[in-house]
Amino acid sequence: MNPSASPEIVVTRFVEVGGDTPYRIAIGPDLLTDGAALAAHVRGRHVLLVSDSNVAPLYAGRVREALHAARPELLIGTCILPAGEESKTLAHFGKAIDALAELGATRDACVFALGGGVVGDLAGFAAACWMRGVDCVQLPTTLLSMVDSSVGGKTAVDIPLGKNLVGAFHPPRAVFADTSALRSLPPRELRAGLAEVIKYGAIRDPRFLQWLEQEREALLAGDDEALALAIAASCEHKAEIVARDPLEKGERALLNLGHTFGHAIEAEQGYGGMGNDNLNHGEAVAVGMVLAARLSTDLGLAPAGDAERLAALLDAYGLPTRIPAGLAPEALLARMRLDKKNVAGRLRLVLWRGAGLAEVVPDVDEAAVLKVLAD
Ligand code: GLY
Repeated sequence: MNPSASPEIVVTRFVEVGGDTPYRIAIGPDLLTDGAALAAHVRGRHVLLVSDSNVAPLYAGRVREALHAARPELLIGTCILPAGEESKTLAHFGKAIDALAELGATRDACVFALGGGVVGDLAGFAAACWMRGVDCVQLPTTLLSMVDSSVGGKTAVDIPLGKNLVGAFHPPRAVFADTSALRSLPPRELRAGLAEVIKYGAIRDPRFLQWLEQEREALLAGDDEALALAIAASCEHKAEIVARDPLEKGERALLNLGHTFGHAIEAEQGYGGMGNDNLNHGEAVAVGMVLAARLSTDLGLAPAGDAERLAALLDAYGLPTRIPAGLAPEALLARMRLDKKNVAGRLRLVLWRGAGLAEVVPDVDEAAVLKVLAD
């Protein structure tokens, strides 16, 4: 070791999620190898590590070794899903349950979800169902899952009728967002995560929106410190909301700004992923937020300048702001009519009152929606 070298300063930030089942989100480098911190959440002897075929080769071995080093007596099983949204099925959920059964997992077992949103949602749902609920620790490895799906306890799988239609609310016991994992994230996936980060500024925090305008280059370059700050700010916003409204009876719906439009685009085009050009979730949400903002302007809710500023910010982050060619407005509207937020057959959308202010609007005029879809 070079005695003149100063020790590297490693900062881990913490965000506390309150409410009936409080837990802590740790955000920082090298958390996936901190065996003592990970193992501290295992109450019994059984651990199931769920991951996917992209992430497991990079990190599953490290997590296993770290857990074993900290607690040699642990029995650790693994369940590796094929990477991609197509794996978020009842059949793969069944495989995770089979893995828990083979392990002989008891009620004090802990499921570790190592990967992006698909892994987190499916592993969390398996944890929610095994013996009517065992612990789950979320280890998100994508920016999107660090700032959204790993926090708040929504778990689910998809069925042919739609995404996330079978699931449960099952808050994690802890979340470890290891920012070192972002270094291996493809740039397109990083940008997709940044769309959800921008969403928090749009719905709650104009100053954060301004900071995102200023820090664009650092964030897109994958600067560790800028990303950690963006993740912590996003998680603080989400933590405040889910602590007050864990079951989405009210304000939690605001987290869905742009999502009804975005889900309709995703469903209509076929789900995007690493292997195709279809918009991925974050990209579809970026387009959805622009559509929601423009609809809000048309309805007299938001200043036109704010909608165009949001579109310019998303565009500057290299995110799409227009509906992909070939998707018919009527078909998108038909998809939007199936959204879970709708009540009594009426379109219920998250709309915008300008930077930092969103609200749920029941009974939105379909003709106005069709107009922004067609423009
Ligand atoms: N992704 C939105 C929510 O967790 O409520």
